Amino acid sequence: MSVSEYTPANVCEYIPGLENIPAARSSISYVDGQQGRLEYRGIAIEELAAKSTFLETAYLLIWNKLPTREELKKFETEIYSHRRIKYRIQDMMKCFPETGHPMDALQASAAALGLFYSRRALPNQDYIRQAVVRLLAKIPTMVAAFQLMRKGNEPVRPRDDLDYSANFLYMLGEKVPDKLAARIFDVCLILHADHTMNASTFSARVTASTLTDPYAVVASAVGTLAGPLHGGASEEVIEMLQKIGSVENVRPYVEQCLENDPKYKFMGFGHRVYKVKDPRAIVLQNLAKELFQQSHDDSDKYYDIAVELEKVIEEKVGHKGIYPNVDYYSGLVYRKLGIPADLFTPVFAIARVAGWLAHWREQLGENRIYRPTQIYTGQHQSSYVAIEQRS
Ligand code: CMC
Repeated sequence: MSVSEYTPANVCEYIPGLENIPAARSSISYVDGQQGRLEYRGIAIEELAAKSTFLETAYLLIWNKLPTREELKKFETEIYSHRRIKYRIQDMMKCFPETGHPMDALQASAAALGLFYSRRALPNQDYIRQAVVRLLAKIPTMVAAFQLMRKGNEPVRPRDDLDYSANFLYMLGEKVPDKLAARIFDVCLILHADHTMNASTFSARVTASTLTDPYAVVASAVGTLAGPLHGGASEEVIEMLQKIGSVENVRPYVEQCLENDPKYKFMGFGHRVYKVKDPRAIVLQNLAKELFQQSHDDSDKYYDIAVELEKVIEEKVGHKGIYPNVDYYSGLVYRKLGIPADLFTPVFAIARVAGWLAHWREQLGENRIYRPTQIYTGQHQSSYVAIEQRS
């Protein structure tokens, strides 16, 4: 037996996690981690958060243009009329265990759409449009439906008179949200809609490159987003703030963590690309502040704790480029909107569907199946050993 390390000709060194290796040419989004800048199709995220809506932003990401008033109206109307999900999908979802994670329920439900619609991606504009409309329309309904079903309730039917975000909050909480809550939720969706070549987007593009259907593309990306290294630390940020409990406890908590482990990782801080405060965290912090100012209850202290924690962590580890990322304030916002902690990642997925679909369309436009190589580290010419002779 011989063991070899075989590197095919023209292959450079192995880079774990493909760090800094371009996996596609893309014009969808852009990040400058030093300046703290994120753009969708060249437009700064702050401007979209202030002036756009999630569906308009989705249109921009997918079709690389801001829609005219008529185009946007048509797109919204199509999406609003496709928000219902088939009884057979609902019946399937009713069989899911109520203890199952909502991300697993979403992945299975998204894949199930492929049972009802076309199997193969066709590079024609009508096919792409239909898939975009169905996925953007139905994913929020499926997230809300599972939330109600796991509590033993019937899902709430979408309401045609409510816009995208108001309707999702209505289906989830069984009551029409106020205008501010719906607008803030819509801005959260804009902020999470795309973020260059991250793990789930890469997953979506690899799946897309086989020309399978777009429901499989989204289901594979949902599965990737679900992992704890990607899907978001916002759930754990809330747990950390609860553990700290008061503004006075912030400094002793941080000092204790760093004394026990000088490399302690605070949830919601740090980013592979951003070395300054994540621009999405800045917008989210303002939204959190607005929400916390609007209504006061016993959870109000968490915003103040979060602000103090950011200050102390910056003082202690800011020199390493550790600042709040998108997950730091998003959990606070979602919690205040009445969204349960284990739905934070499915809500992330509702937004990211827009980005995944934009990458699906871009991939189809210039497709070559992904087929990377490997550096083989196994054996050669080994003998087959009969089962009775194996130790
Ligand atoms: N708190 C304190 N110190 C940190 C943190 C943190 N959250 N993150 C990194 N550091 C330190 C780390 O100890 C290291 O220090 P030193 O130079 O002394 O060895 C230095 O900063 C560089 O860290 P790294 O681990 O090499 O950084 P990375 O780029 O590999 O990791 C990260 C990025 C996001 C995985 C990491 O910062 C982290 O685990 N953060 C906490 C979890 C979190 O908030 N995740 C959400 C990420 S944003 C959403 C998404 O992309 O899906």
